[in-house]
Amino acid sequence: MKNILITGGAGFIGSHLVRLFVQKYPNYHIYNLDLLTYAGNLENIKDIEQAENYTFLNGDIADKKYIQNIFKTYKFDAVIHLAAESHVDRSITNPIEFVMTNVIGTVNLLQTANQNWKDNKTAKLFYHVSTDEVYGSLKETGKFTETTAYDPHSPYSASKASSDHFVRAYHDTYGMPVVISNCSNNYGPNQFPEKLIPLFINNIQQEKNLPVYGNGKNVRDWLYVEDHAAAIDLIFHQGKIGETYNIGGNNELTNIELIHTLCKLLDKKLGRKEGSSKKLITYVKDRSGHDLRYAIDIKKIHKELGWQPTLNFKEGLEKTVDWYLNNKEWLKNVTSGAYQDYYKKQYKQR
Ligand code: NAD
Ligand code: DAU
Repeated sequence: MKNILITGGAGFIGSHLVRLFVQKYPNYHIYNLDLLTYAGNLENIKDIEQAENYTFLNGDIADKKYIQNIFKTYKFDAVIHLAAESHVDRSITNPIEFVMTNVIGTVNLLQTANQNWKDNKTAKLFYHVSTDEVYGSLKETGKFTETTAYDPHSPYSASKASSDHFVRAYHDTYGMPVVISNCSNNYGPNQFPEKLIPLFINNIQQEKNLPVYGNGKNVRDWLYVEDHAAAIDLIFHQGKIGETYNIGGNNELTNIELIHTLCKLLDKKLGRKEGSSKKLITYVKDRSGHDLRYAIDIKKIHKELGWQPTLNFKEGLEKTVDWYLNNKEWLKNVTSGAYQDYYKKQYKQR
């Protein structure tokens, strides 16, 4: 039996990863550590909460005593670290929170793991889940590779870049067995409706404006969340210690292309006249420091580990839209209370 700590498992990507590991690996005990911030929701993993090989731990990755305690009690063999503040817009209004969780929290986990594993690092692993945003912004051509220089522009990407550097520093300085992956934009069920796709699905349903930042021509590369979880599974088991792997969907779209596709799909699903959702599009003030384009070169993970995305965007988007339409209660619960204040502040200034 291996004891594996997954952090951030009540969030979007973490919940899909926890489910995959709990169901696929009965010989692993999965400890899901999550602070349950606004982005964490135990509803996301309700279906596996009774599993024998699963334990939920409610705590803060930046809390030194707490992290030392759980390492001592559960004797983790590996960590898969996803807990983070993850929304760029929130990082612009509240950068310190991002430093506390993404930088201090990560270093706290590294330090505790290093202290606990120092006498025997064999078969241990610290897997850090990161983002393509650390590489900055591309012009019209080219792709991010694992050797692209870091050039973050938002407080969020700067905090993730910093945490990546600390992970590598622990490897180089203390011999900590680490692996890092940098992934592009995920989409799918359970994503908090502050991110583009779920926000717009929610707004279309409610016939609210669709706030497009700038001219809508920024490009993102979209990957279905379960494909990301499958890549993490593969890297966790077969990735080389000390290495970085880029993960992406080979699926670049301008925001406005994506939004038009989403509008058309929802018109159909909601039985509305074609073109009605498009009328909700409103161009608003651009995001400060808005990266123009992200694109990921996935040659390394494909060649070395045989991974590639399995779902095309059309299928993935339809699955995602169907999930939100069938889970109105989930959407209603997460958009009540604090969400209303966030929404007013975030979009009033635009
Ligand atoms: P999310 O915001 O949906 O979930 C983050 C989770 O972390 C939440 O459950 C939250 O409660 C928890 N958390 C936050 N602060 C914590 C703390 N101090 N202690 C313990 N738990 C805490 O994020 P996500 O979109 O699922 O992203 C997960 C990870 O993947 C992040 O590290 C993010 O940088 C990375 N990533 C995300 C994407 C994407 O498109 N969403 C792409 C690439 C990489
Ligand atoms: O690239 C990986 C990153 O993708 C992850 O590391 C982040 O955690 C994740 O949030 C995501 O970052 P983005 O900033 O790309 O995602 P977001 O959904 O916020 O925005 C996608 C694009 O849509 C971006 O160009 C900004 C634009 N946008 C977003 C919102 C919320 C709008 O035009 N209007 C909006 O209201």
